[in-house]
Amino acid sequence: MQKTDFLVIGSGIAGLTYALKVSQQCPDKKITIITKSQEDETNTKYAQGGVAVVNDLENDSFEKHIEDTLISGDGLCNEHVVKIVVTEGPDRVNEIIEWGANFDKNEDGVFSLGREGGHSVFRVIHHKDVTGREIERALLAAIHQRPNIELISHCFVVDLITQHHLGYLVTKSTPDIECYGVYVLNRNTNKIEKILAKVTLLATGGNGQVYRSTTNPGIATGDGVAMVYRAKGRIENMEFIQFHPTALYEPGVSNSFLITEAVRGDGGILRNIHGEDFMPKYDARLSLAPRDIVARAIDSEMKITGTEHVFLDCRHMDLEKFIHHFPNIYEKCKSIGIDVTQQMIPVAPAAHYSCGGIKTNEWGLTSIRNLYACGECASTGLHGANRLASNSLLEAMVFAHRCFMDATSQIDVLEFKDNVPDWDATGTTAPKEMILITQSLKELKQIMSDYVGIVRTDVRLERALRRLDMLHEETENLYEKTMVSPQLCELRNLITVGYLIVKGASFRKESRGLHYNTDYPFKCELVQNIVL
Ligand code: FAD
Ligand code: SIN
Repeated sequence: MQKTDFLVIGSGIAGLTYALKVSQQCPDKKITIITKSQEDETNTKYAQGGVAVVNDLENDSFEKHIEDTLISGDGLCNEHVVKIVVTEGPDRVNEIIEWGANFDKNEDGVFSLGREGGHSVFRVIHHKDVTGREIERALLAAIHQRPNIELISHCFVVDLITQHHLGYLVTKSTPDIECYGVYVLNRNTNKIEKILAKVTLLATGGNGQVYRSTTNPGIATGDGVAMVYRAKGRIENMEFIQFHPTALYEPGVSNSFLITEAVRGDGGILRNIHGEDFMPKYDARLSLAPRDIVARAIDSEMKITGTEHVFLDCRHMDLEKFIHHFPNIYEKCKSIGIDVTQQMIPVAPAAHYSCGGIKTNEWGLTSIRNLYACGECASTGLHGANRLASNSLLEAMVFAHRCFMDATSQIDVLEFKDNVPDWDATGTTAPKEMILITQSLKELKQIMSDYVGIVRTDVRLERALRRLDMLHEETENLYEKTMVSPQLCELRNLITVGYLIVKGASFRKESRGLHYNTDYPFKCELVQNIVL
């Protein structure tokens, strides 16, 4: 058993930023970061386009960024939270620059700005087309300088510890659910151990792996959301899954390489397989309309033409500039035989970002005491029904700061919980057939992609729910009898996430932002969050 003052689950931008701030403010306290894979294997590392932040005051303003975010969110953003994130953003960006992250500058020394869908001006600061890799590098380097931070990689968090583990009945209406720490799977001993903490932060990232085709790496399995749901905490707006319009289409590849929206910002044009520039049919903002609109337009073109992709045409773009801004994309295309000056890039939408998640207040506190959530796993109210491009890294930084402020103000009155029992593994045996887990995972992805994708209907959602019920029952059965493994836990978590997406989608009797149901093609007048 270990004890730590501040426990952080996740080593992406949200977890690392928070840990750095806490360590600076509380040098006598212990901070433990846990991550289930290599320390840098996070959604953060794959971020391309950059960070949306107001800095060019001649052409941009807080008001414009706020308005773009609200328009993109399609009526469901919490305007107060939008103002917080946009106005506090520049200070947070300056901090990660002080910690060592580099962003590209023009010859005149000002930030080189990109533009993405839904932004009315150029405002996205970036590091080439590998912004996330640069941020992750800088944050990890800073973390390793801090003597009071321990970072444990390849350690899987299985569940939050609450009163439930002390033998109390905990339901959704229990008023004061508390988090005392977590149970983790020690990969060296294959045993479940407990880590007790005064304060726990969930920064577990997204859940793209619930779909067949996603831009997210394998770690994105919605573990934090599923753990909070099991602990009877509040989860909201899970139906708003953002499909990125332009993932590179490679037959048979499910973890798709992203072609950043900034390519369209620099002039790339979407064409269907007949070479037609189709966006004028769908939206006056063309290829730079908000993501939900562009992804639906591509989905529609693919259905009309009976193909699995459309094209992104960059042939007219200045090659030198292209290579300067997008060296990683240029190399990737070249590696699969695409010369971007001669050929169009085949692209298709892929699951990319979860706009909903663990419900928090404006300080990142969840409905469970001493438990904060930040970054992609959280639902702060910023994104509404559709996240504005490049607002996610910004949100993670701003809310990491807010979680840090709130958690450090409480820490001195908090104590460790006594009498937390060890994990009970009686009656479980080593798994006989791992193939059962991989087959169920395949089925889950199929169900979600076929029935709960970009365009939904009531019949499809009902089908999905029936099939998920069966997968859930089989997997819970397996979980009760089998020794815990990361694969089994991830499957279980992904089934929970799938269920929450379908439930949210079924309760939302309207089409808004990323949730489009042909049985209810219009927005309801009553604007509501779906809390599960
Ligand atoms: P992550 O960076 O995903 O980190 C999650 C961490 O939690 C990982 O360390 C993981 O191991 C750990 N974890 C999860 N479950 C467990 C468990 N059970 N036990 C232990 N550890 C666990 N956003 C932008 O704003 N701008 C962009 O340009 C941009 N481009 C993107 C491009 C791609 C290809 C992708 C996939 C996303 C992009 N996004 C972008 C979104 C953005 O990168 C993410 O939303 C953001 O980085 C999430 O950060 P995070 O800290 O919340 O989670
Ligand atoms: C991109 O670079 O297109 C992704 C940006 C984002 O997801 O915010």
